[in-house]
Amino acid sequence: MIVSLFQAEELLKNGHVVAVPTETVYGLAASLQKPSAIAQIFSLKGRPSNNPLIIHVANLDQIYPFTGSLDDLTVRLAQSFWPGPMTLVLPIDVEKVPDMVRAGLNTAAFRIPSHPVTKALLERVGPIVMPSANISGRPSATNPLHVATDFGDSFPVLDGGCSNKGVESTILVYSDVWKIIRLGALPPEAFLEILGYIPEIEKCKTGQAPLCPGQMYRHYAPKAKLYFGLTEGMMEAVIGFRDRDYARAKKVFVLGSSQSPETVAENLYSVLRQLDEEGICEAYVDSDFPRHGLWMTIYERLCKAALIL
Ligand code: TXA
Ligand code: MG
Repeated sequence: MIVSLFQAEELLKNGHVVAVPTETVYGLAASLQKPSAIAQIFSLKGRPSNNPLIIHVANLDQIYPFTGSLDDLTVRLAQSFWPGPMTLVLPIDVEKVPDMVRAGLNTAAFRIPSHPVTKALLERVGPIVMPSANISGRPSATNPLHVATDFGDSFPVLDGGCSNKGVESTILVYSDVWKIIRLGALPPEAFLEILGYIPEIEKCKTGQAPLCPGQMYRHYAPKAKLYFGLTEGMMEAVIGFRDRDYARAKKVFVLGSSQSPETVAENLYSVLRQLDEEGICEAYVDSDFPRHGLWMTIYERLCKAALIL
């Protein structure tokens, strides 16, 4: 059920959960002031309680109460990439952020989204926590229809059109140097100018507490079995590119042009969800695309969808 900005504001202030657009993906939002709504997010999504949430704010001034002053490089990152698809994990005063939001960690993740509707809502409501608006393990939602598929037609959704980045924010954490703990809409190379280096991508190591708890879980998976790479025989379905021919495919699901990772990212979750809508049992992914820049994020999401990462 589509709600207006005013209705979304009222629902959030009264302790309800609302689906909210952002430029990356739709989020399942609760006010940081409403613990019972925050708890409801976990049960609605079927999300494990050890997977912390991102705190979304309208501006940097809304972050300082949690973190105190920030060092120069953090401020430069913030000023360069916010509002936008970057999330920073920062040390906080643990008294100021409910345990449930940070899953007992002594840090919290922050993001200032650029979507005008999200921005307007954050200015009215104050800090909002939101994970992606999908049932845990399913592809994220990038439009109101995706939200309705997962949470039902009567679930309140603030309509902000299609999320044009299409994949989640890039998450960074500082430990000696800045590291990427989740690939996202901003490619690692984007940080070179500000940091003076390309941040490394930190993978979960066995036996160590994960830097990004969410990365431990099955993700972005449609019901169909996905194979990475094409085969010699006939294929029930191929996930591929507009500018290529797939003669052995009974059905082609088009991600976009092989020359435009931005459009491929934008369409990625819609395509994964279409497989389910059309009852596809198995699909082959055309894996012939670069492994750098935004393509790296697309590669990682497709590998996770195919359960090979
Ligand atoms: O683009 C996005 O980031 C979207 C939109 C709605 O803003 N949100 C999103 O949230 O992707 P979610 O919950 O689906 O993913 C958040 C990730 C999880 O993998 C979680 O483990 C990690 O952020 N995270 C949150 N707080 C953390 C912390 N304090 N330390 C390390 N990782 C953290
Ligand atoms: Mg998610």
